[in-house]
Amino acid sequence: MQTVENIQELRAQITQWRQQGFKIAFVPTMGNLHDGHISLVDEAHKHADKIVASIFVNPMQFGANEDIDKYPRTLEDDKARLVQANTDLLFTPTPEIIYPKGLDKQTFVEVPDVSDGYCGESRPGHFRGVSTIVCKLFNLVQPDVACFGLKDYQQVQVIQLMVEDLSMPIEIIPVETKREASGLAMSSRNTYLTAEEKIIAAHLNKTMRWVAEQVQFNKDYNDISAKAYEMINNAGMKTDYLHICNSKTLNPATTEDKQLVILAAAHCGKARLIDNILVNL
Ligand code: PAF
Repeated sequence: MQTVENIQELRAQITQWRQQGFKIAFVPTMGNLHDGHISLVDEAHKHADKIVASIFVNPMQFGANEDIDKYPRTLEDDKARLVQANTDLLFTPTPEIIYPKGLDKQTFVEVPDVSDGYCGESRPGHFRGVSTIVCKLFNLVQPDVACFGLKDYQQVQVIQLMVEDLSMPIEIIPVETKREASGLAMSSRNTYLTAEEKIIAAHLNKTMRWVAEQVQFNKDYNDISAKAYEMINNAGMKTDYLHICNSKTLNPATTEDKQLVILAAAHCGKARLIDNILVNL
């Protein structure tokens, strides 16, 4: 695996692969890789000849009081995992390379509506940071396809709309969430959890599975959400939000909607966890 930090070297390799007629898949990450990330690389192999991954802890998507300084950086382990997954190139730019003028003077990309609620409301500016970095990385890597984990369901919707709205010739491939045996969605932020908190954290997905069962026969979505909110709190977490939504628009689901997504976020110890479940009625 080739590791490059600067844009010139990245572009030179991409140009060469393009001239050779190779199809390129891209897996953007913020590092601290787990099996969920590797499943993105495995999926990428099904769609392309060359796999590019990136590791960049993107300051633009973190709020002022968030965990950017504490965000786990495990580059050597990450590289070993990517080599094992047959990644061809790893791009590891510095913030100075990506944002040479600083964040205040950086042009940004913002996808309206879908960026506003849920994680967008709890983390103002987060999705602007995500769409801007993903747009920039797409322009640098120029992939044919890009893989994103469905754990970040709202993020996938934001990126899919950005690609559509800005006519980017890139196919977005959503990849199933990888879970621990307990049902806990794999996440880089799980490293903040103690052994005891990991047991508590599993109640987030357990409660969401309860919601997924309830919506099959109970149409009082507000009541179900309110109960689930309490169940997560009673398990020892602090619920940020839990909503039953239309899986396409992410608007609160109506009783007419057949394709639902349950979206939730909760604080457990030092970690803010998110998860979602798709339900077809
Ligand atoms: O999902 C992530 O790890 C990040 O939001 C992404 C897509 C790499 C952009 O920084």
